[in-house]
Amino acid sequence: MIDKGIFDKDCRACPRLSTFLDDVQSRYPDYYCRPVPPFGARKARFLIVGLAPGMHGANRSGRPFTGDHAGILLYQMLHKYGFASCDHSESVDDGLTLRDCRITNAVKCLPPDNKPVGAEINTCNVYLANELDALPKNSVVLALGGIAHRAIIKALGERQVDYKFGHAALHDLGQFRVLDSYHCSRYNTNTRRLTEAMFDEVFATVREMLDKSQRE
Ligand code: URA
Repeated sequence: MIDKGIFDKDCRACPRLSTFLDDVQSRYPDYYCRPVPPFGARKARFLIVGLAPGMHGANRSGRPFTGDHAGILLYQMLHKYGFASCDHSESVDDGLTLRDCRITNAVKCLPPDNKPVGAEINTCNVYLANELDALPKNSVVLALGGIAHRAIIKALGERQVDYKFGHAALHDLGQFRVLDSYHCSRYNTNTRRLTEAMFDEVFATVREMLDKSQRE
């Protein structure tokens, strides 16, 4: 794998995504419309991996899960469990800070219909691989949804059959653990595939694991 670092704000490696971003930029000149960088300190022990920027959220604001429905429950939980200074995330200059937490996406550019194709997930995977490689000891990675989960397993060079996605499933990857959750999308929360109680339990588990490893 070519070492491209953890992020390239000028990346145009996926022709379909670059063309789409150019098109969206012409329709929404005020939107960010570039690869969205990870948010939070590099040394954080809690890494959250989402799918890809949302059209009117991260793609508008330039920060993961910021400004759209998917971020509402996420930042509420981050605040409740002490990972965020505030319970909502509106814009890059809202003063919100993360504590011991970092948020990124499996695919850094907005995909049409929120659906990156396999080749795009694979092309972007090098950034995730480098991000995972640099995680501190005893980190916890939260995979939001099956695509993020599989991107993580791929980035680690592991076999998908050995690590199946399931809500609240915990996978020991040696250097860190991966916890799965259904994605906090509008669709999943509206249909109650993911309830607040279910997401709360996921965050309680993360908090407990990180606190325990700090005491050991
Ligand atoms: N916004 C993001 O940054 N990622 C998602 O997966 C959804 C919305």
